[in-house]
Amino acid sequence: MPALTTTSDGFLLHGEPFRIISGALHYFRVHPGLWSDRLRKARLMGLNTVETYLPWNHHQPDPEGPLVLDGFLDLPRFLRLAQDEGLHVLLRPGPFICAEWDGGGLPDWLTSDPDIRLRSSDPRFTGAVDRYLDLLLPPLRPHLAAAGGPVIAVQVENEYGAYGDDSAYLKHLADAFRSRGVEELLFTCDQADPEHLAAGSLPGVLTAGTFGSRVEQCLGRLREYRREGPLFCAEFWIGWFDHWGGPHHVRNAADAAADLDRLLSAGASVNIYMFHGGTNFGFTNGANHKHAYEPTVTSYDYDAALTECGDPGPKYHAFREVIARHAGVPDEPVPAPGPKLPPTGVELDGRAPLLPLAGALAAPVRTDDPVTMGELGQRTGYALYRTVLPAPGDGLLHFADGVGDRAQVFVDGAPVGVLERERHDETLPVRIPHPGAELEVLVENMGGVNYGPRIGAPKGLLGPVSCNGTVLRGWECHPLPLDDLDAVPFAPGDGTAVTVPAFHRGTFEVDTPADAFLSLPGWTKGQAWINGFHLGRYWNRGPQHTLYVPAPVLRPGSNELVLLELHGTAATRAQLTDTPDLGPENTW
Ligand code: GLA
Repeated sequence: MPALTTTSDGFLLHGEPFRIISGALHYFRVHPGLWSDRLRKARLMGLNTVETYLPWNHHQPDPEGPLVLDGFLDLPRFLRLAQDEGLHVLLRPGPFICAEWDGGGLPDWLTSDPDIRLRSSDPRFTGAVDRYLDLLLPPLRPHLAAAGGPVIAVQVENEYGAYGDDSAYLKHLADAFRSRGVEELLFTCDQADPEHLAAGSLPGVLTAGTFGSRVEQCLGRLREYRREGPLFCAEFWIGWFDHWGGPHHVRNAADAAADLDRLLSAGASVNIYMFHGGTNFGFTNGANHKHAYEPTVTSYDYDAALTECGDPGPKYHAFREVIARHAGVPDEPVPAPGPKLPPTGVELDGRAPLLPLAGALAAPVRTDDPVTMGELGQRTGYALYRTVLPAPGDGLLHFADGVGDRAQVFVDGAPVGVLERERHDETLPVRIPHPGAELEVLVENMGGVNYGPRIGAPKGLLGPVSCNGTVLRGWECHPLPLDDLDAVPFAPGDGTAVTVPAFHRGTFEVDTPADAFLSLPGWTKGQAWINGFHLGRYWNRGPQHTLYVPAPVLRPGSNELVLLELHGTAATRAQLTDTPDLGPENTW
């Protein structure tokens, strides 16, 4: 018997009436040293439950390897901390999670096989899911409510009705959880319209909705679809995510609180998406691709109740008031904003140009035509492709099938142009200075598509490259995942402007570690690391102009900042500030 059961219009937990007042908090987007802080703040806002997805691609990076369950991925620890805080947990293990996460959480070793029908009852897909669940359930089982743990419900798939209608696949997943000992309540979630609900639901499994406004209408549609049972909004969108080059989305706190009030007044249960968004650290962000490719920014602030750095924002206070009226909140003070590092300048005086280093960072794979990053066995990061150009003169380079996702082109080491998947670029005029001139193409994976049919779209150079109609053969392909920068030989800079991709290094002193925001005026685009921790991508295209630096990444004494700047810069300084800049606000 599951701990959480349903009645004709609500839930019972251990037989007592219960309403889920939950907030989304993805452990993998929050520094593990800050999990307790965020969970405590969840309880203090009045939440009785937190919800998290599980990123399959990070937990199982190698199909044959063991599950990764440490550091940012120490789910058992996160669950213990939630329970210590008195919170219940809703788990959304996928296998697909969307979530603006690289590839929607599906491992690249699966999505790179074009023959596998993802998210379907194709046995090659369900077989991989089954093997994952075989590994996942043993460490998870002690945390299920049946074993005295905090997990009271488990989601099957994610908004499947927006993707497919293979009900045998959904049934396979539900059975897979059951046969591995998950007794807890199962639910599906779908956008609240009849077609999605019909395609994404499963008999015997609770149907939940995902919506952020039009509360009465959406609850009405849920009720039309299921005449009986609890009304549950499994994703109540109170903010939104941003794309590079797009606006910074915010939602008015009073408006979101009024909709929360409507939900609770209607007797519904809710999971606020997001209670705390966190950050797409490193190379973890996803992308959308409907008409054009749109990569998601590094911040997943989401205009959530807790800001990216864990401070209560306007919604925290507004939601707490609403929850207090409906269910009560702890009689404890509202948490104050956390301390911030005093503004600190960083002089970046060490340099190491990237292109000449490629050989030291990774041995090349020699091929006739360029191969994709997937074929190089690479999941994220960059790849450098090298070949020799034909006869001197004006040339038109043609990249068959385009680039995944952004390519910087160099002739004899000098930058000659950029091609972007976002703009559907496939050609670039170049001037070839002499016989035997070298062509280099540095390609950046800007994040795997996480929604719709383009999940798994390849990265790198996607087809043959020709110059004036002649296909260029004989390539050196260097995978550059940049997961280890130890081999980067920094030398003192000479104060001159840099015009090529290069690593820049500087040190700075910290008295007491505290949260900070890395601001990079004069820098264009690249990656940032502090003390080896990969903060993520920066880009002056915006909207985001600072990167969140969680306090636990810093240490008292000397700290190191490394930037990979992809374009030229005359700047030699970076700034750690006490205020984030996520871009001009665009209210929805
Ligand atoms: C859907 C998905 C979530 C997320 C939100 C938008 O509801 O289920 O994973 O992508 O959209 O943030």
